[in-house]
Formats: sequence, structure tokens, C-alpha cells
Amino acid sequence: MNIKKLFDMEGKVAVVTGASKGIGEAMAHGLAEFGAKVVISSRKQDAVDEVAERFKGEGLEAVGIACHVGDAEQRQALVDKTMDTYGRIDILINNAATNPYFGPIEAMTEAAYQKTLDINLHAAMHLSNLVYPKMKANQGGSIIHISSIEGIHASAFFAAYNISKAGVIMLGKNQAAEWGKDNIRVNVICPGLVKTKLSAGLWNNETLMKSLPKKIPLKRMAVPEEMAGLAVYLASDAASYTTGGVFVSDGGLLQGPLFS
Ligand SMILES: NC(=O)c1ccc[n+]([C@@H]2O[C@H](COP(=O)([O-])OP(=O)(O)OC[C@H]3O[C@@H](n4cnc5c(N)ncnc54)[C@H](OP(=O)(O)O)[C@@H]3O)[C@@H](O)[C@H]2O)c1
Repeated sequence: MNIKKLFDMEGKVAVVTGASKGIGEAMAHGLAEFGAKVVISSRKQDAVDEVAERFKGEGLEAVGIACHVGDAEQRQALVDKTMDTYGRIDILINNAATNPYFGPIEAMTEAAYQKTLDINLHAAMHLSNLVYPKMKANQGGSIIHISSIEGIHASAFFAAYNISKAGVIMLGKNQAAEWGKDNIRVNVICPGLVKTKLSAGLWNNETLMKSLPKKIPLKRMAVPEEMAGLAVYLASDAASYTTGGVFVSDGGLLQGPLFS
């Protein structure tokens, strides 16, 4: 068996939500480097067009299709337009997420709670359900959900975000249990602290950044590209026996010192 060839994604089509920047963009770039045709998706058409054009300028295959993942009609349009453009879907990365609330759980509004669950968890399930028959028709596929170490470990100020990310982990496990018979693999990636717009509230906080690296065994936060290799592996045939997995990439943060 040629192991290197298993990473080849030539002819495969990948949809990546939240791919206009950050971790989603880095993962989409990784998949495209290994030969996949990638659909760059986020809410704003000009933003996804800009990324797709940049990829094409590097000789990669990409198209931008805007989709607010919280909107049922836009989710359907994302799948329909992908099918019209490329004719198949082999890989789905549910990466788009929001974190509108920081504070105590009892002070969170119902609207903030609902929005967080809708975007981070419910949208991932609904979009997967739309993609499922397309993957089934191809006799297989790979779905990757982007959760977080916040879905594994409690924190005192993220409230709904942690709840949604824990839900994403069980969503992936249940889908893996149900869709294995169709050769559709479902895995979950739990990043630690990655330098992106979403985490700016943390890495812009000078006081926090004095203490936080000490708690991370690798002593630093990640850059988005450090999440891409895991996504490439899970999306590719190299991971053909890997499903229902939860993969932490956090510089060791969850194993960091309890007291420091
Ligand atoms: N950064 C970290 O430290 C960290 C740690 C653990 C897990 N994560 C997870 O990693 C994933 C990516 O986060 P990131 O840090 O890369 O964030 P980011 O740089 O802020 O990027 C978020 C992406 O999601 C898109 N987006 C936001 N709301 C959307 C919506 N309703 N519909 C469609 N697209 C939407 C944004 O584009 P538009 O604004 O143009 O729509 C953007 O492309 C998320 O699931 C996050 O929870 C991040």
C-alpha cells in the first residue's frame, strides 16, 4: 500500500464553513494543497470570493459560496450551489462558530444562548443531514466538526459556548455510529488556543497572556495552520478506519499544571 497516495484528494470536493479566515481558511488551504476542490464559505460573498481568488492564484481549485449557517435556506443553497459547481461532496468541515457572550451562566440572555447553540451545534447537524445523501451516493465521505477544548473542560465565563462545543462532540460520535454503514466517517477536532479573530479577546488581554502560556506545556498559542494537518488526515483516505474520534490539538493545555 502506498501511504503517501492515501493523502491524495484529487477529484474530491470539500465544503468548509467559516473558511474566510482563521482555522477554516487554513484547513481549506491544506485540503486544496492535497488536491481537493474546496468550497470556501462564510456569511459574506466578497470575503469568500477574496479567499477563493487567492487560492486560485496559487494554482489551487476553489470557489466562494456565501452561507450564514444559521439560516436553513442558505444551508440548502450552499449544498445546491456546490452540487451545481462541482457535482459531488466528499468532505464537510463544520467550522463556523460564534461566541457572543462572556460572563456568568445565570446572566446570559435566552437570545445569546439560542444563537450560540443554533450556529455552533444545530447548524452543524442540519448541514450534515443535507450533505449525508450526497456522500451516501458517493459510497462514502468524511465529516469533521470543529469543537474545542472548551467542549471537554469547563470554564467559568464561556457559558453557552462550552455547552455547544460539548454537544458538537456527541453529535459527531452519534453520526459516526449511525453513518458508518454508509462508509461516512465523522470525527471531531478540539483545538486549544489558536491566534484568530475569535480568540482576540484572550490574546489581546496582556494580563492573561502573562500567565496563560505558563499553563500550556508547549508554552505558546497555536497559529491556524497548525490545525490543518489533522484536518487533511481526517478528510483523506489515510484515515479510512478512523471514525467517532475526538482529536485534541492544544499544545498540551488540558494536561497543563493544575497549580502554577
Ligand atoms: N481560535 C481559537 O482559539 C479556537 C479554539 C478552539 C476552537 N475554535 C473553533 O475553531 C473554529 C474556527 O474559529 P476561528 O478561531 O478560526 O474563528 P475566526 O478566525 O473568527 O473565523 C470564524 C469564521 O466563521 C465565519 N462565521 C462566523 N459566523 C458565521 C455564520 N453564522 N455562518 C457562517 N460563517 C460564519 C467567519 O466569517 P464571516 O464573519 O465572514 O461570516 C469566519 O470565516 C470555530 O468553530 C471555533 O469555535 C477556535
